[in-house]
Amino acid sequence: MAVGPLDLAAGLDFIRPEIEQGFPWVSANIVTAAGKPIFQQIIRKKAGNIQLSITAVTAPPGKILKGIEVLSWESVLPSLLGQIRKENDKSFIIVLSNYSNEENIRIAKLFPEISLIIGADRRKGNISPKIVNNCLITQTAKQGKSQGVLDIRPGNNRHWGINSAEKLVNLQNKLGSLNWQLSRLEKKALQGEQENRRRKAVNRLQHEKEQLTLQIAGLKEAARKEADSGIRNDAFSYRFIALARKLPDDQATRVRVGELNKAIRALNKQKKQSAGRTQRQSGTSPSHNITGSDLCATCHTVQADFWKGTSHASAYETLVDKGRNFDIGCLFCHLTLNLKTAADTDMRQADLLSFPAELQAVGCETCHGPGKKHSIRPRQFHLVKTPSEELCLTCHTEEHDGDFNYLRKRDLISCPAG
Ligand code: HEC
Ligand code: HEC
Ligand code: HEC
Ligand code: HEC
Repeated sequence: MAVGPLDLAAGLDFIRPEIEQGFPWVSANIVTAAGKPIFQQIIRKKAGNIQLSITAVTAPPGKILKGIEVLSWESVLPSLLGQIRKENDKSFIIVLSNYSNEENIRIAKLFPEISLIIGADRRKGNISPKIVNNCLITQTAKQGKSQGVLDIRPGNNRHWGINSAEKLVNLQNKLGSLNWQLSRLEKKALQGEQENRRRKAVNRLQHEKEQLTLQIAGLKEAARKEADSGIRNDAFSYRFIALARKLPDDQATRVRVGELNKAIRALNKQKKQSAGRTQRQSGTSPSHNITGSDLCATCHTVQADFWKGTSHASAYETLVDKGRNFDIGCLFCHLTLNLKTAADTDMRQADLLSFPAELQAVGCETCHGPGKKHSIRPRQFHLVKTPSEELCLTCHTEEHDGDFNYLRKRDLISCPAG
């Protein structure tokens, strides 16, 4: 397990017991102020007669941590890889990295002796295995939202198969994504013309799949012949499985998560008290120029009455009911925000926690934009009449609303004309 920046967030003392209990944390570039490595730098394992050497590079955390220094990968990898190669020049080297994918590609280009980089880019989802300079780079979706099996069949030289094997990789990638598309399409039966289109797409994909399967079989045969020649390249296959949204909770985990949420709530309650007033006047505040729905209601009674009947009006209450209204991870989408400002700025936690009562809902200005000036001179300062799909999608993300359809859902919440 590579140490990530968040694993250090609570300080070294927090994970020290785990280090002592032998949890296999690994990081090559986290050192004490005196430059001594804190975690194991290399984990060595045997797979048959292959020597596996696993190391990790930790991306620098956002804040300075007491007693911990995070060196750059450039300053640790050359000597570390040299050491591994000296021990065994056929070692299969795996680097776990939580740097960005671009940075991982740079690492691969510099060090052809690395066979595999498993990434954890926070902004990227699933990355199918790609060969860069004889190094395989891959990652499953962020935060463990999909699981992956990477099956490696090591050869007798540290080289990923170039000819047939590399083509095989690409075709298998294609087959993987095809299967995924198919499984999605096959699940949902639709109505009328849409259903016809869906069927056609399924047929087309199935035909493609048959062709691919044939090609793959041919290539496998070629690869077998290559193997007969005595030189066996490293080869792999993989499978990613996206986790279903509605998997039942594991009871023990649910209890622990409940306790954690309680602790977060207590902490944030304290924070809110010490944070004091929000800076609503500051241009970077997510509530900048927002008045709250009550004022809008004084002139737009018809729309306000309608809005009160939608669940947007009670979105904050929903969090209160669940005891999650002090959870920063939830508030962003259950409040009236200046989404334009909020999306571009690193939102201050205290801002979200100390939102004024009149903005505790997905209010008018979420959709129509900040309306301070409009409320004073409505005929001079106009608001957005029809909120865009893009705006809805800031909150109605795939994760929180799997079947968001703009036109259909907009109909449900469109305020009536006065
Ligand atoms: C700031 C985040 C946010 C934005 C922007 C947003 N929504 Fe929502 N929406 C929510 C939340 C949160 C809920 C669920 C509230 C609850 O159940 O407590 C919701 C619920 C809904 C519902 C269910 C309504 C009901 O009464 O059952 C519809 C439909 C909907 N949204 C459509 C839209 C559309 C269309 C847009 C864009 C015009 C949009 N939303 C913009 C956060 C948002
Ligand atoms: C990215 C935006 C977003 C975040 C973050 C978010 N929600 Fe929501 N939430 C929504 C939207 C959108 C809906 C409405 C979904 C729909 O209409 O199908 C919703 C609906 C809900 C509902 C009512 C529907 C249901 O599923 O029971 C609850 C409860 C809820 N959210 C709780 C939470 C909690 C707790 C958190 C924090 C862990 C959270 N939400 C974080 C966007 C978000
Ligand atoms: C979730 C998004 C959303 C929220 C929240 C929302 N509206 Fe709307 N509003 C819409 C949509 C969509 C329309 C329809 C636009 C159209 O027909 O082009 C609309 C239309 C309007 C109109 C124009 C009506 C007309 O046709 O003349 C007014 C005025 C209005 N809303 C005011 C409000 C007020 C006041 C609130 C809060 C009490 C509010 N809206 C909350 C989405 C929203
Ligand atoms: C003092 C009364 C008043 C207040 C307060 C007010 N409005 Fe309006 N609003 C109007 C009038 C009048 C119009 C029609 C403007 C026109 O046709 O030139 C209007 C128009 C609108 C429109 C249609 C688009 C436009 O700008 O022409 C929307 C959307 C809207 N208001 C939303 C809101 C929201 C959201 C708030 C609260 C932040 C709000 N209004 C507060 C009087 C008001």
